[in-house]
Amino acid sequence: MNVIKLTDLDVAGKRVFIRADLNVPQDEAGNITEDTRIRASLASIKYCLEKGAAVMVTSHLGRPTEGELRHEDTLMPVAVRLGQLLQVPVRLIQDWVDGGFEVKPGEVVLLENCRVNKGEKKNNDELAQKMAKLCDIYVNDAFGTAHRAEATTHGIAKYAPVACAGVLMGAEIDALGKALHNPKRPLVAIVGGSKVSSKLTILKSLADKVDQLIVGGGIANTFLLASGKRIGDSLAEPDLVKEAHAIMDIMKERGAEVPLPTDVVVADEVSALARANKISIDDVHTHDRILDVGPKTSAKLAEIIANAGTIVWNGPVGVFELPQFAGGTKMMASAIAHSEAFSIAGGGDTLAAIAKFHIHDDVGYISTGGGAFLEFLEGKTLPAIAVLEERAAAK
Ligand code: 3PG
Ligand code: MG
Repeated sequence: MNVIKLTDLDVAGKRVFIRADLNVPQDEAGNITEDTRIRASLASIKYCLEKGAAVMVTSHLGRPTEGELRHEDTLMPVAVRLGQLLQVPVRLIQDWVDGGFEVKPGEVVLLENCRVNKGEKKNNDELAQKMAKLCDIYVNDAFGTAHRAEATTHGIAKYAPVACAGVLMGAEIDALGKALHNPKRPLVAIVGGSKVSSKLTILKSLADKVDQLIVGGGIANTFLLASGKRIGDSLAEPDLVKEAHAIMDIMKERGAEVPLPTDVVVADEVSALARANKISIDDVHTHDRILDVGPKTSAKLAEIIANAGTIVWNGPVGVFELPQFAGGTKMMASAIAHSEAFSIAGGGDTLAAIAKFHIHDDVGYISTGGGAFLEFLEGKTLPAIAVLEERAAAK
């Protein structure tokens, strides 16, 4: 991908505006529960500070209503964490669109939640132009938001004097591109989780590319239905059975496969107290809910993973938050950790599983993107990257 890279620019004394994705999970009191995205954003900020730039960073947090800042929308907790990690104070600037605040060379400020600005979501041109006036160099480092065309991810990139990709954005594009464009085979994709409909398009495009497509969770249940199995009271999308069938056919024609569970772990409810039963897929009853793959299936999946050349992972294969349904995902995590394959993982649940099973250091690349990660793998052009390419081409 042809974009200008931050590290190729001379930023000394320049006003640099960094759009980061600091959209981190918080508990009810607003405490940050997981700060991967903040840590991943440090490289670009440090680069600019060390070179003596005046640095403005902004991000969205959640999906606030434009025009009002409720207390849960503020980036204040992020400013505090960022300051701790950088070991410098980070001022939080409110109402910043029209300027009127000072940033000295070598200083970094955080600009309040960009999604409270009117026009952000709709990529309003006037807003984008105002923001572009704040800087000499615009840096997009928000890979996690690269699938959204909003004023801070797209519009501003058209009008800023220079628009480039930050360190994290560059690393994401390189790592995911490597898995996508010339992968070491066999290429194995694992797509699990509960959001069947939103992940079906990605499965379709992956069906053309991958050698094995491991499906998990509600997605696997939909495929089981398609292959004529009974799934009792399990989560699935019966409306999408035809699509699942089509995907299996595409794969079969290419000599590739969708390995479906032969045994499963069922219970009659999803709860910490639920009693789990390990049964054959042919013994699933009307009131059973499939909440994990069984040990035979886990072993089979682990073998596929062990023989892979490249692994792409998004989504768990069971309700791994509860110990009695964690076996499949745990086995898979361990197989990925021990595999020689280049592995890449992304998405909120996947990051949680990686943390839970302590395999952080054994995954080849961990993406900060959820939706963006999936859309990139689908081969879609992400608007925030496309505009950087346009700017690079016009130079
Ligand atoms: C994410 O959390 O996936 C990104 O920060 C994008 O957030 P959004 O889905 O609210 O645009
Ligand atoms: Mg999201």
